[in-house]
Amino acid sequence: MPLGVTAVVVLAAGAGTRMRSSLPKVMHPLAGRPLLWHALTTARGVQPEHLVAVIGHGREAVGAYLAATLPDVDTAIQDQQLGTGHAVDCALAVLGPLTGTIVVTYGDVPLLRPETLVALATEHTDRGNAVTVLTARVVDPTGYGRIVRDAAGEVIGIVEHKDADHAQRAITEINSGVYAFDAAVLADGLSRITAANAQGERYLTDIVGIARGDGRRVGALVADDATETEGVNDRVQLAAMAHALNARLVRTAQLGGATILDPQTTWLHADVVIAADATIHRNTSLEGGTTVAGGAVVGPDSTLVDCRVGADATVLRTHAEGAVIGERATIGPFSYLRPGTVVGPGAKVGAYVEVKKSTLGPGAKVPHLSYVGDATIGAQVNFGAGSITANYDGVHKYDTVIGDGAFIGTNTTLIAPVTVAPGGFTAAGSAITDDVAAGDLAVARGRQTAVAGWVGRKLPTSVMAAAAALAGTPEDHVTGTAPAAGSVPTTPEQPGTSSTRPGKALPA
Ligand code: UD1
Ligand code: CA
Repeated sequence: MPLGVTAVVVLAAGAGTRMRSSLPKVMHPLAGRPLLWHALTTARGVQPEHLVAVIGHGREAVGAYLAATLPDVDTAIQDQQLGTGHAVDCALAVLGPLTGTIVVTYGDVPLLRPETLVALATEHTDRGNAVTVLTARVVDPTGYGRIVRDAAGEVIGIVEHKDADHAQRAITEINSGVYAFDAAVLADGLSRITAANAQGERYLTDIVGIARGDGRRVGALVADDATETEGVNDRVQLAAMAHALNARLVRTAQLGGATILDPQTTWLHADVVIAADATIHRNTSLEGGTTVAGGAVVGPDSTLVDCRVGADATVLRTHAEGAVIGERATIGPFSYLRPGTVVGPGAKVGAYVEVKKSTLGPGAKVPHLSYVGDATIGAQVNFGAGSITANYDGVHKYDTVIGDGAFIGTNTTLIAPVTVAPGGFTAAGSAITDDVAAGDLAVARGRQTAVAGWVGRKLPTSVMAAAAALAGTPEDHVTGTAPAAGSVPTTPEQPGTSSTRPGKALPA
């Protein structure tokens, strides 16, 4: 059923002085989005034909944000904050003459749910009201406008705290500042309100009394949950609302089938999507547009920003931004994935590994202590411990390409641009400057030489000399470990026979 809401006006021109911030209040983030985004997202819930934000303080920043992120939102400029009535005037000047229902809400009330705004609009239409106010019952109404009702319980007006008498200040039903108005009643009321009050402002709230005085139907909807109607005025409230909103987001994910073991320490941004049967462990932040597929396990102690985690992947103690993690992939512990990282299905990024703008093919492994930047790594590649891509010469970045099934020996430095063809092999400790052909072994390291008895001669009083003496006479060690030429094995590696490992000895 259409709600008949022609426009939602979101008031966001105030200074937000108590935030003590150079950032406009409505731009402060909550769950990864500015306060104003939350207000506008809720406003969309009543499917208005027009959505207009009234901006003033910090309007360059707020206007630029809206133009870039929510271009369908109209903006009205309120140069001076002359009151909530004046602010709505500014919005109507942009919108032009309207009929139907106009909803007014605030840009700094981020917990208001679309369902509540829909209930307000529905109540307004069903009752044929001229004005319907969203109210709340609170323990401490100090500072709020009070809802004044007659003996029959009908709303007859709203009186601001500063204008209220003693008896009115005892009223605990407050005005949330969210309303549904008949457009004609709103326009007429705005033309009649004055600034003859304690604050010298044009109060939007006065329209309630004006409509009632004209004999029109004025109603109220009492919010089920007063916290929904609370505004942010300082950073203490901002943090409290962050907790409240997070609890809501966690609960929604849980009810959707995600296992979230520690809601207190799991932080979710508003746009995050967690599939059923995903598991999130403690101390984990999922931010931006992160998505987690079913069966995936994320955390503990992980932060993922704008990442996609595939089904059955594992992400442990990891910081990742802009990464795509394939299904069954395993990440961490202590991995750092930077933007442009694509980890293929079943691939592994292990401890103390940083990956930037690189693709790992299916089943590829970068298990320990590596940097992979600007690289394309094929399927089933083993990228040995401590190996890195040297992708930067101080001015330019260069690419590294490693073909399927290649083996990058421990502590290989791949000096980009360089290519290792499929099945290529680099010897441990090599600095690879030239392309490696398919199936070749590339060895690029100095030969080991032994200087017999050096320790005993040069450091005769040292621990090393004493240990060497205990181990045997220097004459026992004169040959060192360099193998004779021609000792490169021709048989496959045998377990436990390290002397026969391919690449251990230098080829002749
Ligand atoms: C207003 C209501 C009060 C209600 C309370 C709920 C009026 C006169 N009073 O009081 O009944 O209980 O909200 O929080 O409406 N704004 C503008 N331009 C202006 C003035 C305000 O855009 O000229 C915006 C502010 O940025 C803010 C909202 O309107 O988002 C409310 O303004 P604020 O000054 O906080 O109103 P209150 O005095 O708290
Ligand atoms: Ca306020």
